[in-house]
Amino acid sequence: MQLTVNGETHDATGCAPSQTLLRFLRTRAGLCGTKEGCASGDCGACTVLLARQGEVPRSVNSCITLLGSVAGERVITVEGLAGSDGPGRHPVQAAMVDCHGSQCGFCTPGFVMSLAGLYAEGGRGDDAIRGAIAGNLCRCTGYRPILEAGRRMYGYPPAPVVPESGAPAGEVNHGEALPAGYYRPRDEAALQAALREHPDAWLVAGGTDAVLEITQQYAAPDPVVDITAVAELCAVDDANDALRIGAAVPYSMLERLFETESPPLVAMLERLGSRQIRNRGTLGGNLAGGSPIADMPPVLLAWDATVEIAGADGRRRDVAVDGFHRGYRETVLEAGEYVAAVRIPRASLTRPHRIFKLSKRFEDDISTVLLALSLDLAGDRVGEVRVAFGGMAATPVRASAVEGVLTAGTLDDRTIERACTAAAEAFTPIDDVRASAAYRRAMAAALLRRALRELREGRDLGIDAVEPLHA
Ligand code: FES
Ligand code: FES
Repeated sequence: MQLTVNGETHDATGCAPSQTLLRFLRTRAGLCGTKEGCASGDCGACTVLLARQGEVPRSVNSCITLLGSVAGERVITVEGLAGSDGPGRHPVQAAMVDCHGSQCGFCTPGFVMSLAGLYAEGGRGDDAIRGAIAGNLCRCTGYRPILEAGRRMYGYPPAPVVPESGAPAGEVNHGEALPAGYYRPRDEAALQAALREHPDAWLVAGGTDAVLEITQQYAAPDPVVDITAVAELCAVDDANDALRIGAAVPYSMLERLFETESPPLVAMLERLGSRQIRNRGTLGGNLAGGSPIADMPPVLLAWDATVEIAGADGRRRDVAVDGFHRGYRETVLEAGEYVAAVRIPRASLTRPHRIFKLSKRFEDDISTVLLALSLDLAGDRVGEVRVAFGGMAATPVRASAVEGVLTAGTLDDRTIERACTAAAEAFTPIDDVRASAAYRRAMAAALLRRALRELREGRDLGIDAVEPLHA
């Protein structure tokens, strides 16, 4: 087995299917410029770029990227950024030096690679720079000089971002880059064959959550079946009655898909995880993990979505997302089954909605509480309404008591307060390191109040609308 990094080929013989790209870079390829900080996708020290033929390179956390998942991609690390015949420094590196963007230097390769990803797509402006580096932490320099480097990077002689390799176009890291025991099927027929042959295989998509079992709990899954190259699972079908999104579609694509259809979802996705996480994490992975604080299930509950499930034997079934979760991290998926796609009714997407996420770190953190609400309003009369929460119970849940208060009512202050009281009383959340149960209840009410007032007034009221519970 061989893997090409920065245009150079490295021997990867004997790597396990649970091997991460970061471990390979540092321990096999001798490319130690890429750092390991948290090994869980939180600090960005391990950021590298992946580039498919003809596509703009994208930043990923190599600590939670499995080695086999980079098959078919060019891998660019900080050592290869300037290119073998380049000026010696990429514009981002030159700007970081000139702006004094580094002190101890541990975080620097990660920041450089995140900014190089932004440079490759031509992103400009402070919001874009902040968005690119939101998943990178620096403990000693501070962010002002790094932001300044992002502003000034276009002022240097331009440089290519993807180093050339001797391999023909489109043939970098194909097939030969898969460790023994790592299966990356290209279509559903091959996926189902792999699942029949390996019924106990570890099924993984982007791995932004699942690979933490390897890096934090030292799991060593073998074999591994990776769904990220399955063509049908990467497809989006924009039909008249529903939007069908394949399970392996990453969040970055969802951001583009919902840019005009759902600004509230795009705003939430910016908080779901860093750019690196959004380039890897998938809708299907978020659902299949079964987490009570997964960010997408409450949204899909509010939108009355349907989950398409397929099995190794080729059988398919539809399950309303309302019935998908059975209990804490437990779903209706049976052995050999996988999430194939999610269908969102068109009618849901046109209904006014709000999605609010609360977390300790603004970007790149798991939810404390998440609210998704969708309702029909005729004047101030409420028609159909769906309210769902994450972080309030053992599964993502609909708030039927709140829906009961709102349905067919008038959206006046009194009704809104009754609904907020119902939201606070409907659940018995847990105390944990992220928040107390009392805080979660108060915030469920506060987020609901803001959402209802905003929908009534038809405008964004901002954080000022989040008042504590009056009851
Ligand atoms: Fe921290 Fe990878 S080492 S995100
Ligand atoms: Fe030291 Fe950023 S320069 S952590």
